[in-house]
Amino acid sequence: MSDPIQVRVAAVRTVSPKIREFTLEAVSGQLFSFSPGSHVVVTMKGTNAEGKAKVWKNAYSLVSDGFDASRYVIAVRLQDESRGGSVFMHTQVKEGDTLEITPPSNLFAPVWSAKKHVLIAGGVGITPFMSYLPEMKRRGAATEMHYSYRGDATGAYREELQVDEQTPVTFYDGAAGERCDLKAVLGSQPLGTHFYVCGPESLIEGVQETAMELGLPSSNIHFEAFAAPQPGQPFAVQLEGSGLNIQVSEDESLLEALERSGVEVPNLCRGGVCGQCRTQVVDGEPEHRDSFLSDTEKADNDCLMPCVSRARSSSLTLSI
Ligand code: FES
Repeated sequence: MSDPIQVRVAAVRTVSPKIREFTLEAVSGQLFSFSPGSHVVVTMKGTNAEGKAKVWKNAYSLVSDGFDASRYVIAVRLQDESRGGSVFMHTQVKEGDTLEITPPSNLFAPVWSAKKHVLIAGGVGITPFMSYLPEMKRRGAATEMHYSYRGDATGAYREELQVDEQTPVTFYDGAAGERCDLKAVLGSQPLGTHFYVCGPESLIEGVQETAMELGLPSSNIHFEAFAAPQPGQPFAVQLEGSGLNIQVSEDESLLEALERSGVEVPNLCRGGVCGQCRTQVVDGEPEHRDSFLSDTEKADNDCLMPCVSRARSSSLTLSI
């Protein structure tokens, strides 16, 4: 795993009632430039509702231009069901604070050989596309965007997008009854178009089903589905390799509990999509919450993704 980067919060801005934007600058040295669609993992050190010290690590898309390595900008949605990370970012982090982040990684890069790029965003799913647009412009790539949101609460960056003349954007306000007609959008594009979707599961599934109905190649459909892990019931974990016994509380992920106990597990997305954290289960029944394992692998119950998945049984034994 790459060394973390210390960054200073240079600015905090509310871009919608539920979404706050943070501009981050290197405490020393230089940041790296990054490719469109990249994300960073932010380490948040605070206290939970009981006043106990707590560390959260959440992945956030970079919304700034990757060509500009003088700063990184992230946007954080206040989750309705938060384990505390998004609440921490919204209520505790202020200008001048120092945070630790990972170097950028990319699990959602554009396919530059595409004839055209159609970007379909839902709510805070707009964030990875904010870093697509400047590079699409520089390359003169044919691009159009469809952005669905629900009233002012989640419709961030609409003004910035409206002044963009090169990339046509169609807005759909769900609160006003407006809906994106996926069949019309997907069915009216030239051969060789690639589609990128980021937002709620229902939107991603809608695009996948419509593409299948229209006979579009699945290799031309790209989606980013990672989300911060959700809270759940507490459970116990035994580690066969190291002999450790760990308690996972309701507001921490299994991966966070392992890290708290000094057990390092490779990870990249911390949202159940990249497969990096796959860990063998020796005993107990996992509650799979990832989008990486196939249905058959999930039914086998012999591995799980600890960044998001938890336990149905009161305890799990892992091979590590
Ligand atoms: S870190 Fe990516 S699936 Fe767990």
